[in-house]
Amino acid sequence: MRFLNKVATTALVVASVAALAPAAQAQSGPEAAAAPLVVAHRGASGTRPEHTFASYDHAIELGADYIEQDLQVTSDGVLVDMHDGTLNRTTRGDAANCTGAVNTKTLAQIKTCSAGSWFGAEYVNEKVPTLEELFQRYGNTVNYYIETKQPDPADHMEEKLLALLDKYNLRTASINNWQVLIQSFSADSLKTVHAMDPRLPLIFLGNPSLATIPSYADYAVGLGPSFGSSINANWVNTAHASCLDVHPYTINTVANMQAALAAGVDGMFTNFSDLLIGLLGDRKAKGLQGAIDAKRSHDACLARNAKAPVGGTVGATLSLTLGTPAGFGAFVPGLAKDYTASTTATVVSTAGNAALSIADPSTTATGKLVNGTFSLPQGLLVDATSAAGTVAGPAATVGGSAAPTTLLNYAAPVSNDAVTVNFKQSIGAADALRTGQYAKTLTLTLATTAP
Ligand code: G3P
Ligand code: CA
Repeated sequence: MRFLNKVATTALVVASVAALAPAAQAQSGPEAAAAPLVVAHRGASGTRPEHTFASYDHAIELGADYIEQDLQVTSDGVLVDMHDGTLNRTTRGDAANCTGAVNTKTLAQIKTCSAGSWFGAEYVNEKVPTLEELFQRYGNTVNYYIETKQPDPADHMEEKLLALLDKYNLRTASINNWQVLIQSFSADSLKTVHAMDPRLPLIFLGNPSLATIPSYADYAVGLGPSFGSSINANWVNTAHASCLDVHPYTINTVANMQAALAAGVDGMFTNFSDLLIGLLGDRKAKGLQGAIDAKRSHDACLARNAKAPVGGTVGATLSLTLGTPAGFGAFVPGLAKDYTASTTATVVSTAGNAALSIADPSTTATGKLVNGTFSLPQGLLVDATSAAGTVAGPAATVGGSAAPTTLLNYAAPVSNDAVTVNFKQSIGAADALRTGQYAKTLTLTLATTAP
């Protein structure tokens, strides 16, 4: 009796596959009950010189929900409220003090300038306010919508802003009641603030694509897009699905205000707060309540859309199970014949690829069947077939451990692939055969380079 024994060697490699389900879709809008917010863009800048007390006082009189500030930094490190990076457009006075870049002038220089005469002679005494002066004037009686304008990391605008919030007890009010919203065209600036205090509500200014909108929810509570045709209901709904409020800028006509409201925005920047307030009528929130409601609505949206990842993990598996050992039966001396035999194997692989190979680990007559000190003169041939594997090549002599014979290749994970391993042993008419059993113990290996 002659037979062939085979021992499988399996290689186990760590791998993990996880599938996450998408978060549940939000209801339309952070909260339908929250009134659209009226953001007084640079104050009541349609009828007053922007970023002046006169402008803010009037916006507050009109009943705006927020007064908006753009921040610049003076050469001596003070946050001032000015849109432009230069003094030229909105200040008048001595050229040495009132023209050129804000960050090249001291606060004392800037304070010599009129911030209102460019708009009208009656505003000649208006000055460029510092942010601290605004906080001193209005305290916690108003809501602030503050923009870090073209922030340079060297200016530490964000640190200065948060220090002032703390000094005037506005940080907690910002976190809890959205009394301060911090806005920027600079994602880096917002991320800097987020890193300092992730509870602070941030608004990213820009018009991101539909596909990228959800990513802003990682650090922002809302988006401030430039209003145009792209800011339609679909865009707004996409933002709302990620619990991002939408406050487009700068909308100064009733027709555009109506279009924005029809698209479902949660508020808007306007130079003419009275127009929007008139349009909203009874929907308009009173006092600080609009911001508070917006915060509550945002919280409700987050609660509705609590992320609940669903998935499973696939443990790393390379499994090789062998069937009954193959046996050729009796070799007949003096008869030229090709003897065949087969065994089976079952392959399970979670790897990106895998290869099944076979080797004769023996250093004695490698690749040949042996009987004691005798070996068959011709090598043992092998190949394999399966449903999922790709045949590596025609039948070939079993190689040694250093050069195994590859049988099948797998280009993807596979489960319970039934493999047939075929052996062929040629015996020549003149081959001398010794009584007894010719056999070898072979090693099958399933291995991967992409676990
Ligand atoms: O901050 C919203 C809007 O004001 C952005 O434009 O140039 O007026 O600051 P800008
Ligand atoms: Ca602004």
